[in-house]
Amino acid sequence: MTARLLLSLRAPQALFLCGLLIATSCGDSRTDSRTDSPAPVRAPAATAAIDAWTEPEIALLESLAIGALQPPPPQASNRVADDRKAAELGHRLFFAPQLSGDGRVSCATCHVSSLLFTDGRKTSRGLADTTRNAPTLVGSGHSPWMFWDGRRDSLWAQALGPLEAGAEMGSTRVAVVRHVATDPSLAPLYQQVFGSASGLGDVTRLPERAGPFGDSDEQAAWQRMTAADRRAVDVAFANIGKAIAAYERLIEPGPSRFDRYVEQLRAGSPAATEATLSDEEIRGLRLFVDAGRTLCLRCHNGPLLTNQSFHQVGTATGEGALPDFGRFLGIQAVLIDPFNCLGSFSDASPRQCEELRFLAKSHVAGEMGKFKTPTLRGLPRTGPYMHDGRFASLEEVIEHYRSPPAGAASMEITPLELDDGESRALVAFLSSLDGGVDLADPWLRPPSDAPSSAHR
Ligand code: HEC
Ligand code: HEC
Repeated sequence: MTARLLLSLRAPQALFLCGLLIATSCGDSRTDSRTDSPAPVRAPAATAAIDAWTEPEIALLESLAIGALQPPPPQASNRVADDRKAAELGHRLFFAPQLSGDGRVSCATCHVSSLLFTDGRKTSRGLADTTRNAPTLVGSGHSPWMFWDGRRDSLWAQALGPLEAGAEMGSTRVAVVRHVATDPSLAPLYQQVFGSASGLGDVTRLPERAGPFGDSDEQAAWQRMTAADRRAVDVAFANIGKAIAAYERLIEPGPSRFDRYVEQLRAGSPAATEATLSDEEIRGLRLFVDAGRTLCLRCHNGPLLTNQSFHQVGTATGEGALPDFGRFLGIQAVLIDPFNCLGSFSDASPRQCEELRFLAKSHVAGEMGKFKTPTLRGLPRTGPYMHDGRFASLEEVIEHYRSPPAGAASMEITPLELDDGESRALVAFLSSLDGGVDLADPWLRPPSDAPSSAHR
């Protein structure tokens, strides 16, 4: 911190900053060694204060930094989760618009790599408008629950949703399976990963479009298929999800300025830390980690800055929109999803589905209006924010935390008491979580032979 900043603080805040740093105090050794300096006594003290973190504080910052990120946890329900060939197939599938009903929408339409796999829209648009904001996929391999309401319990079960959702890709599972089984760039890979003995035989004898969520003709065609054929298609469809999941597990966050700051702090290079985060950003970081001033860390913790859990922060209702029940419906949906961890397409033993079994015993009543805590990594590029994209800027998000709507049931936050300068500092810190993904990485680009319409 510079004298300029300290002088701009009101006295109680300056005292607060000193108080925060009791262990190193506002008169630590760095200051003492400069007592012969002609500079005003408070300026060097201030420089020490903003950057002088105690050992426990540094340990806390390290727990939030990218260095603490482990590989995604094993996924017992997906036996190919860490298979490179499966990821290669998943890579092709992720960018393939041919999997959609009109041949124009791929996963990458709404999860654009240069936007950290979001789409920059308030709510997403595929074949039609959806009502939710596309979350980043960066680090999603670490999450036990998928979607804002957690209605799927794995990446592979999640991937099956958009393929058949009318507003997203609007296809049917038979059409998807037929395409994968006959496309010359996909079929051989599929066979290498899953074998040809998946009971499908000649797919061209199946109807072109059929599935349980299609239009009435497509549903009728699905019902007319033999139970054995429906089962074989479901197995192949689940496999397609598993390959996409293997690919998504490779989409990991890159370091942000915040991460470099923590590294430099640990290395003890004060000049470097000063160049990495501005005084204002550091001040915001101090607020973010100060449990006495903000509750952020309760929900946004760990190296992905999320506890991967569901919370009520007063966003279930919005102007002109019906209330979004969030986790209340998500729990009920994941428990009956045939592609969940306990289902017959899962590669896990029931023993390995502890989270889902635990969930089955939970009471849903208190879950109304809860949404999954999103990662804060990459924030400068993942807006608009919240499950419905209601906030265009981080300023608006913080404004919401300062005056959340009153009266929401089981609300988990209280109004954030920050003055305008502190709010700006918090926003500045959040903007330093600017890590991207390496766009030169061929895994994150469309496969070289993919048609250019994958991004539209
Ligand atoms: C029309 C745009 C659109 C398309 C196409 C699309 N998505 Fe999404 N995706 C979204 C939206 C919107 C959400 C959030 C929906 C919700 O939570 O209800 C989402 C959520 C997700 C999530 C959950 C992330 C998390 O942390 O909870 C994953 C993973 C994902 N999509 C992967 C995919 C894959 C794989 C495909 C292709 C098979 C795909 N998406 C196609 C818009 C899209
Ligand atoms: C009780 C848990 C909880 C606390 C405390 C909390 N958050 Fe959140 N945060 C959430 C949830 C849940 C969402 C998503 C809400 C939604 O989608 O409607 C969210 C969303 C956000 C977003 C939007 C991210 C995105 O990609 O959409 C930001 C930014 C954010 N929080 C920052 C903060 C900051 C800064 C603090 C401290 C002042 C904080 N949060 C405190 C749970 C919490």
